Amino acid sequence: MLLGAAKSANPRLGSSIYGAVQHLMLAARAHGIGSTLTTLHTGHEDDVRKLLNLPDDALTMALIPLGYPARGRWAQPKRRPLDEVVFHEKYEEREVSA
Ligand SMILES: Cc1cc2nc3c(=O)[nH]c(=O)nc-3n(C[C@H](O)[C@H](O)[C@H](O)COP(=O)(O)O)c2cc1C
Repeated sequence: MLLGAAKSANPRLGSSIYGAVQHLMLAARAHGIGSTLTTLHTGHEDDVRKLLNLPDDALTMALIPLGYPARGRWAQPKRRPLDEVVFHEKYEEREVSA
């Protein structure tokens, strides 16, 4: 949530919050808690503001559902190995050139 930003039309305002979101998600993961970043609730911003008793000038930035994947119907996410998806300088370049 970003205070004083409710009327802003700047799509990047406060986007550094996503670094904090990532930290939260990584910390949750370390405790076996799954999460996902969502913003779909922004279509109901006023309802969310009322539900959570947020100040009128607050702009919500993310809604992060947390849960225990092992206890539900969700499996471990499938992830390709990093060396298949991380490149250096150019697409499909895997070696770091000296
Ligand atoms: C800024 C942002 C907002 C998002 N909002 C939603 C959302 O409202 N609903 C949703 O299902 N996924 C949303 N996503 C996508 C999910 O966070 C997630 O990336 C997607 O479900 C794919 O999951 P995976 O990356 O684990 O494969 C959003 C992603 C970003 C970066």
